[in-house]
Amino acid sequence: MTTRACLQATLADRLGSAVEARWIAEEVLGSASSSEHEVGDAEIALLSVMAERRAAGEPLQYVLGSWAFRALELGVDRRALIPRPETEQVVEIAIAELRHAVGARRATAPATLADLGTGTGAIALAISAELGEGRPDLRVWATDAQADALELAGENLARVARAHPWVARQVRTRRGRWFGALPAAERGRLDLVVANPPYVSEEEWESLDAEVRLEPRSALVAGRGTDGTPGFADVETVVSGAREWLMATGVVVVELAPAQAAAAAELAGRLGYRHVRIERDLAGRDRAVVARR
Ligand SMILES: C[S@@+](CC[C@H](N)C(=O)[O-])C[C@H]1O[C@@H](n2cnc3c(N)ncnc32)[C@H](O)[C@@H]1O
Repeated sequence: MTTRACLQATLADRLGSAVEARWIAEEVLGSASSSEHEVGDAEIALLSVMAERRAAGEPLQYVLGSWAFRALELGVDRRALIPRPETEQVVEIAIAELRHAVGARRATAPATLADLGTGTGAIALAISAELGEGRPDLRVWATDAQADALELAGENLARVARAHPWVARQVRTRRGRWFGALPAAERGRLDLVVANPPYVSEEEWESLDAEVRLEPRSALVAGRGTDGTPGFADVETVVSGAREWLMATGVVVVELAPAQAAAAAELAGRLGYRHVRIERDLAGRDRAVVARR
């Protein structure tokens, strides 16, 4: 037997981080127990396995098995990308744009959006959780090309729906490549297309930390755009394809790499979108293109 304080100190030594040791201890022991709490053998065994995974370089989020995204706690594991703070901001933009798009139209059709490449379901679930109670007509398509990512999104849907029951009615997961995942009847009817597609170039992938490269390559890496911009192929597919899936008042919001912002704005302008702007992240880097149809 050992106390929580003693065990946490050992973990901190092993990981070189008191903060990470505390997070892992809280995941297994909860946050309520005192530092003198006697930790049982089964808990010690579990904590050791988690500490070894972390020490071997696995991202902390995968070791913990869940991570906060906006107001939600989402399951995270190797099936999908770990949702990033930049994407929390993209959700903020998407919610404001969805409100604007729905307010701008006369038709009384339900508010409808598609989160393409949903991964953990982060964007789709956050929008439904935050907006859906006051907008019971909201319909959300959460799609992904990867079956295992979509399976995780489905698990997160069930998890989020426990606290936000309307999410289970509003969010539907579908498998397929970009717009190919959507029912044909949605063509020309969407208010919002939102995506955080892969936007890391092949060359950049090679130089990423080993820890990041434990996340699915298919979630991060994209080919060059038709104009040669590295990592831009999927951003280009979403911005181009959204033209025919959005209604006249609809809007597309796409996260991207700072070096792709000019190409994305130029593309959207060339495609005929009315209002095109680039949004920055909290670090001041260009991070999303917003284009109203
Ligand atoms: C950068 S991750 C974003 C995940 C999640 N939306 C988020 O923001 O955390 C990109 C996602 O796009 C998916 N994806 C990649 N290629 C795709 C394609 N051709 N069609 C649909 N989804 C695709 C990946 O499986 C991955 O889940």
